[in-house]
Amino acid sequence: MTKVHSLEGKHRLCVLKFGSSVLERQEDYRTAAQEVYRHVREGEKIVAVVSALAGETDALLEQAGAVGGEAPPALVARLARVGELRSAALMALALCRMGVRACALDPHEMGLEAEGDPLDSNLCSLDAAAVLDRFADHEVVVVPGFTAGHARHGVVTLGRGGTDLSAVFFAARLGSKRVRLLKDVDGVYAEDPAKNPRAERYGALGYEAAAEASAGLIQPKAIFAAAAEDIVVEIAAIGHHEATVIAAGPARKEVPLPWPPLKVALLGCGAVGAGVLSYLEQRPDLFRVNPVLVRHPDRHSSEGGAVFTTDLSEALAGDPDLVIELLCGADRPADIMLGALRRGAHVVTANKAAVARHYDALHAAAEAAGASLAYSAAVGGAVPVLELLERLRPGPGVVAIEGVMNGTANYLLSRMGEGWSLEDAVAKAQELGFAEADPAADVDGHDAADKLSILVREAFGVALPPGRIFKQSLRDVGRGDAAAALARGQVLKQVARCRFGRDGSVRAEVRIEALPASHPLAAARNEENSFLVTDRDGVPHAVHGKGAGRWPSAAAVFADVMDLQRALASAGSAAAAPARLSA
Ligand code: HSE
Repeated sequence: MTKVHSLEGKHRLCVLKFGSSVLERQEDYRTAAQEVYRHVREGEKIVAVVSALAGETDALLEQAGAVGGEAPPALVARLARVGELRSAALMALALCRMGVRACALDPHEMGLEAEGDPLDSNLCSLDAAAVLDRFADHEVVVVPGFTAGHARHGVVTLGRGGTDLSAVFFAARLGSKRVRLLKDVDGVYAEDPAKNPRAERYGALGYEAAAEASAGLIQPKAIFAAAAEDIVVEIAAIGHHEATVIAAGPARKEVPLPWPPLKVALLGCGAVGAGVLSYLEQRPDLFRVNPVLVRHPDRHSSEGGAVFTTDLSEALAGDPDLVIELLCGADRPADIMLGALRRGAHVVTANKAAVARHYDALHAAAEAAGASLAYSAAVGGAVPVLELLERLRPGPGVVAIEGVMNGTANYLLSRMGEGWSLEDAVAKAQELGFAEADPAADVDGHDAADKLSILVREAFGVALPPGRIFKQSLRDVGRGDAAAALARGQVLKQVARCRFGRDGSVRAEVRIEALPASHPLAAARNEENSFLVTDRDGVPHAVHGKGAGRWPSAAAVFADVMDLQRALASAGSAAAAPARLSA
């Protein structure tokens, strides 16, 4: 197969495939989207190949028979493919709600063509540029795995169970060397793990051996197509990092890691906390949640089994392994986190005010106790800007960052451009759940300064308290200024910038600026965030997405939690901290 086009060198492209075994119910799109987000955090661009929800293709074929009898196969295919089209749209919707820039493509939009029988056709061509071009402004392209265009029949379906092969086909045509097939088992086992709980799993398998050992789990045709293109195929379960890796080389067996459940204290159940709680409740096998600390227990639903308390000691009872801190304020939450870290608990927080003001104390406590401290959601919501800095750290390092990093301010300026008053726009942002409890933090630039202070620390290793960062307030924007800027072809943005000087000094400020519409930061809409990071070689790196709101922030918090869970499972002991999260 020929490579037509390739992604810019700094991006890795991975093809993920979600079959019907992991898309059983509507709620599974959120779980699958979280899995995709994990790869986006690692800086990968993703093609997500999806099957229909479990049972849907059978139901469509049955419906075709009930209505059409012995219908022409090409007409049956026209109906049977609908499950995949629907599934691709649902997956893209789940990703967008989470704040990841995703789009879905139908076969005709990417020149995806198949040949052969209408109900058993084989993919034969793809306009790779039509897919890769979407990555200019998306992190994820979702594609249906079971349908394509056809020169004679217009639209067709592939052979049943052929989505593995589709994933390999996309990888080959798009120049990707990595395909991860998400299944309901975490790899290929030497024996049936349902019959023998101590069954060994293959950590690695050569292509030939894989075709034999994985019969019934992966299509042999998919394995041979991968072998022909030197594509590494991973068989994995959602949330796990262990996998069977199929590539050229010898087979290796390993004993699967145990995943002991973590005892979790959740402190705060507001806009973000309620989202995090629903993620935790989806995985009772992994998390035992203590009574959740809230101000008004009667305002929270116990439908998922959660108990609520106003008593901090009850919320922290029994030495939790993990404390998730999502409270308002800075000093009291920092004290609570310090106490937890000193007791050896791991901490995940979204609290930028606490992290910015107590950075050294929190990191020192984590290091002393060998515990981890993670706060991806504190800057950028779902936008993985801290992860980008971490990737650049061992390489060229960073010289400057500029960004739209307060979603509420961006939302307010968007509304003011439409003629809204600042007060009305603030009320709406509060209703939508992304303004801070005290919206002055957003309006007056304090929240952006907190985030900038953390970025300065992580990028340059320099302590710059948020109080020393100059901030311009949205209150300085006159009525009509935002609309006037639009009329001039500009947009008003709250821009936070920092730069590392040759003399080791750091300049940082938060200003309201009129940017030309063509400026990369100008594209951030509503509560979106956008960051431009310039490395010391002068190369710009951009990350975008939703920076505020329940689901984007909850996705980042939960991704930190799952990283911790995986690191603890790998370390085989709840005492070990993951290297990338620790201070
Ligand atoms: N109020 C913050 C914002 C929430 O609007 O960006 C996310 O940090």
